[in-house]
Amino acid sequence: MAEPRTATLTIGNMTYDLPIHAPTAGPDVIDISKLYATAGVFTHDPGFTSTSACESALTFIDGDKGELLHRGYPIDQLAKKSHYLEVCYLLLYGELPSAALLEDFEHRVTHHTMVHEQMHNFFRGFRRDAHPMATMVGVVGAMSAFYHDSTDINDPWQREVASIRLIAKLPTIAAMAYKYSIGQPFVYPRNDCDYATNFLRMCFAVPAEEYQPDPILSRAMDRIFTLHADHEQNASTSTVRLAGSSGANPFACIAAGIACLWGPAHGGANQACLEMLQEIGTVDRIPEYIARAKDKNDPFRLMGFGHRVYKNFDPRATVMKESADEVLDLMGIHNNPVLQVAKELERQALNDPYFADKKLFPNVDFYSGIILEAMGFPTSMFTPIFAVSRTVGWIAQWKEMIADPTGKIGRPRQLYTGPTQRDYVDIENR
Ligand code: CMC
Repeated sequence: MAEPRTATLTIGNMTYDLPIHAPTAGPDVIDISKLYATAGVFTHDPGFTSTSACESALTFIDGDKGELLHRGYPIDQLAKKSHYLEVCYLLLYGELPSAALLEDFEHRVTHHTMVHEQMHNFFRGFRRDAHPMATMVGVVGAMSAFYHDSTDINDPWQREVASIRLIAKLPTIAAMAYKYSIGQPFVYPRNDCDYATNFLRMCFAVPAEEYQPDPILSRAMDRIFTLHADHEQNASTSTVRLAGSSGANPFACIAAGIACLWGPAHGGANQACLEMLQEIGTVDRIPEYIARAKDKNDPFRLMGFGHRVYKNFDPRATVMKESADEVLDLMGIHNNPVLQVAKELERQALNDPYFADKKLFPNVDFYSGIILEAMGFPTSMFTPIFAVSRTVGWIAQWKEMIADPTGKIGRPRQLYTGPTQRDYVDIENR
């Protein structure tokens, strides 16, 4: 057997041996978990750029190669050959299902898509102009008040039931948030529709007439779900794990993940990207925006460009671009100004040394917004759709964490820079 490897840390005249763990893929990991106990020092890594926070067997990203694997399977193969619910099964249970297992899983998800009728009242408490993400954070958090029988995190069966409920009900909740915001009646889910078609129906059907989306749209919707299903230890997933590490119930943890996803540097980028393309408006204004993105004194960034991990093309973006072409062809959209700006912006940015040197490539959000807009979604629904897709990743990562017997509450330390102890000064003496 190979000798365990160690890294040696020297502080003053003391040396400390730190174990090195070898992953199945990716860089080696130096284990510093005993460092404070033995050396009395913390490590400092704001933004966790060099820190592995957990062991995981779910998703692997090689940012330099532009590779994304779920349980070992490349995302482009999954996006082209599989479909969202099969990818959900793979993420949750570790292997591709047999036909019988997949049928059973799909049946379980399909038959849990309705939400408790009293949740309708909960929605009605929000203002009509509330952002659907605001509504979703509230309603998903409220699921813990509606589904008590699946909040015991120590019971594997309840964890399983909560997982199915979340995957099944999130599209219903997102669609309800949308319908409420536009003043239309809620549309109940239907068990004879596949997952993506059901979501499109709940968003776009009205009681006054039948609605059947074109299969190309259903397929594109399913791909958007598939491409966003999981993405390793990103900000919202780490939020879910941190919330879950305290023993909080799964609905509360997923609500925390949704809140984190909302930010424009993360899941909010698809909305921000489309709004940016609309603001640019015409191709002649692109150089002005590229100049702003390069200006260190201007906080503006090209939304939909750059990624913490990918320093090459985001493999999800490549598939998303193909889907965008299919959807735009179907909708007969070729001269759309937003699309023209997007294509030209991509071309100019990829040929600009600033973006090339910093390895800033279009990410998944650059194209997803274009497809969603062509499908008829308002920009405010882009991030809720990301939340629906990512729910399986959050849940699978949460389940993996809860099942880990070595799990501990997440509790980072700090580099304190505030005042040291001082005595309280009475108000009349200040
Ligand atoms: N436009 C202009 N400059 C950029 C951009 C951009 N979009 N992204 C990064 N940079 C520059 C940044 O200014 C920095 O320059 P310097 O080294 O001179 O200070 C350098 O590139 C490295 O950037 P960073 O902020 O240190 O990188 P990060 O890993 O902390 O940030 C990011 C990653 C995704 C937050 C960032 O690229 C960004 O803000 N992009 C726009 C928002 C976006 O599209 N987000 C969606 C990410 S994909 C979906 C998801 O996973 O949620």
